[in-house]
Amino acid sequence: MKNTLHPLFFLQLVLILVYSCNDRSAKSSDHESRTGVSLNAETYHFPASARAEKFDIKNLQQNLPDSLDAALINYGYELMVNTSRIVGPHVADTAMRYAGNNLACVNCHLSGGTKTYSASWVGVMTRYPKYRNKNGKVNDMEMRVNGCFQRSMNGRPLPRDSREMRAIIAYYSWLSSDTSLNSKPEYKGYVDYKSPHRAADTTQGRRLFMQHCYVCHGSYGEGLLFDRADTSRGYIYPQLWGNDTYNIGAGMAKIETFAAFVKGNMPYGVLGEKPHLTDAEAYDIAGYVNMQQRPVPPGLDGDFPDRSTKGADVPYGPYIDPYPPLQHRIGPLQPIKAWYKELKKDKPDDTSGHEL
Ligand code: HEC
Ligand code: HEC
Repeated sequence: MKNTLHPLFFLQLVLILVYSCNDRSAKSSDHESRTGVSLNAETYHFPASARAEKFDIKNLQQNLPDSLDAALINYGYELMVNTSRIVGPHVADTAMRYAGNNLACVNCHLSGGTKTYSASWVGVMTRYPKYRNKNGKVNDMEMRVNGCFQRSMNGRPLPRDSREMRAIIAYYSWLSSDTSLNSKPEYKGYVDYKSPHRAADTTQGRRLFMQHCYVCHGSYGEGLLFDRADTSRGYIYPQLWGNDTYNIGAGMAKIETFAAFVKGNMPYGVLGEKPHLTDAEAYDIAGYVNMQQRPVPPGLDGDFPDRSTKGADVPYGPYIDPYPPLQHRIGPLQPIKAWYKELKKDKPDDTSGHEL
């Protein structure tokens, strides 16, 4: 090992201090003086094994070949990491308020979108255009980006020809430039996960949340802002439910997507290669979080124009199946999946189910 202080050392230090001090009122600067680590998205490090090392996002500018538009790629990266500072709901220029919450894209697409099993953007350009049941259309990259702007960020779409959109796509193109990584399963979607054949136990979920998650995300899932006086600086620990987070139409609002994300990435520092929680634990926590309040965007009943392609765990109606809304939210999902399978048994080319 080249460095005497491996990034993991800092991570462990942060985790130990966070857990032992249990001081949720601490400001980022307090974190910094206690841990020597400034806790912003740019300095979160995962072990090399979990990151696409080819893309040295720490030194983005210096490492780009001359042939690429470094300024544009760098702006794309900035938009992903400092989302709320550039296009958040409280930025000074009201015309730039595209995101409706103060999350950052990289709160869910970890390490600048290069961490394994966190719906990474490595190779993402090779996955689009692609048909999505969610809107019943072939989606190009701009549409997919705007999907997360409208749902995960509870905001409004970026104009297709804006500098922001071009920058995001330039950044993704750079992250898709190593053909040896593009089709690797660990850089696409989440770690393998299977829901137990029962409803999520939300009481147990609450207990597990207080054991594994509360210390960072708060008892009410409220998260911890960098600076309460200036929310556009975003979160140290992002909000999980409430008004300033992803809305009910987002992928993360589906119990199986949440559980798979959490299994592979949480508590913070966990790798998909070595999960900390079992599938059953992740499921119960996801069920508990899924029962909390979050923003509801307009127009959700326009989703899944072909209702027979609606995933069992989509938490909002209308549904064509006979199962109660609560069961879509917290399971058991197997009977619902079986019902749709039966419905479509004569259509062998079915594309429904978990989709990115
Ligand atoms: C709250 C978590 C969350 C946030 C914040 C978020 N995303 Fe996503 N994103 C997801 C999830 C979940 C998926 C996969 C959707 C699914 O499985 O249904 C996804 C998928 C994507 C994909 C497609 C990936 C692929 O491999 O097909 C792109 C591109 C994307 N997001 C871009 C963004 C951008 C740009 C932002 C910020 C403006 C953003 N996301 C913010 C959760 C999030
Ligand atoms: C040590 C602190 C810590 C702990 C403990 C922790 N998280 Fe996180 N969590 C984070 C950080 C930091 C991020 C944002 C990651 C980034 O930006 O790189 C995050 C992101 C998330 C996100 C995506 C962003 C959002 O707002 O939805 C979810 C979901 C999440 N955590 C759930 C959980 C759950 C469930 C647990 C318990 C099993 C947990 N976390 C435990 C620090 C933590």
